[in-house]
Amino acid sequence: MFEDVRWGLSQPQKQLPSKYFYDTRGSELFEAITELPEYYLTRTETALLKTPVSGWVTEMAPASLVELGAGSARKTRILLAAMAHGTAERTYAPVDVAGDFLLATAEALRLEDPSLDVRPQVMDITRNLKFVGELPGPVLFALLGSTIGNFVGESAQGLLSNVRSAMGESDLFLLGADLRPGAGKSIERLEAAYNDTQGVTAEFNLNMLRALNRDAGMNFDLAAFRHRAFYDEEEGRIEMHLVAENAQDVHVPGADVVHIGAGESIRTELSCKYERPLLTRILESACLEIVRWCTDEEGLYAMALASPV
Ligand code: TRP
Repeated sequence: MFEDVRWGLSQPQKQLPSKYFYDTRGSELFEAITELPEYYLTRTETALLKTPVSGWVTEMAPASLVELGAGSARKTRILLAAMAHGTAERTYAPVDVAGDFLLATAEALRLEDPSLDVRPQVMDITRNLKFVGELPGPVLFALLGSTIGNFVGESAQGLLSNVRSAMGESDLFLLGADLRPGAGKSIERLEAAYNDTQGVTAEFNLNMLRALNRDAGMNFDLAAFRHRAFYDEEEGRIEMHLVAENAQDVHVPGADVVHIGAGESIRTELSCKYERPLLTRILESACLEIVRWCTDEEGLYAMALASPV
């Protein structure tokens, strides 16, 4: 266990896998992030889901919704409502690594709508999505919340190919992506989304160390770390780090201690930003093509609907 922690802390740029963000407290803090005034992503995506995406969904009338990385499934309700116009029997299969959170969400949805067939899958979305073969089609796959951005380069392509291999010819894929700075979007606006004034994102970031201290028997000195997030224009991505203000030796499970120097940083997350041509290209490399596209008026965020080529 924790090979990924060992590996990450042995790299020249120390890093930790973002999956360790999502213990119960981390999932709750993330929910709080989505409600922050600076975090425009969730709000913008929600608005686009209402119009025009709901219209697309009603038109395509999918029988099942597979939501990849479901979280609290607030936005899901919009998609499910749009599906209800087409079919009476609907199946909802949320997929997430955060098991407890996922099961609680699934239960809430069941209570809200007893006619909905809810089939939660506790798994890593980068794994084989075999269960999908058993769902009534057509299936709408949704990867929302700019989650695609948290996969870099080949791993983003790998994720999309993985989704594509679970898709039948008449299934569809809905993708939400945060856009690069441009005409209506400044770098300041983008950076503020990851540096909120209330410090919730900082708390979320630090929570990873707390989780690793508890679950991996590590001894990060939490008080010594500071949150840092910035946009790398060249790479087109937000990087999120924890910077150590004091040097420390941290015990790593299954290894010796690792030394963290004063001022040294550990990278905890990447959030890649997109443009339409770039999305077209990575979807294409996974044998998917965009059939519908929209952005908000400011050009902050985009939704793409894709189908198998
Ligand atoms: N995918 C979203 C984003 O990159 C949400 C997210 C994932 C996030 N990890 C995060 C937001 C860490 C803030 C901090 O924006």
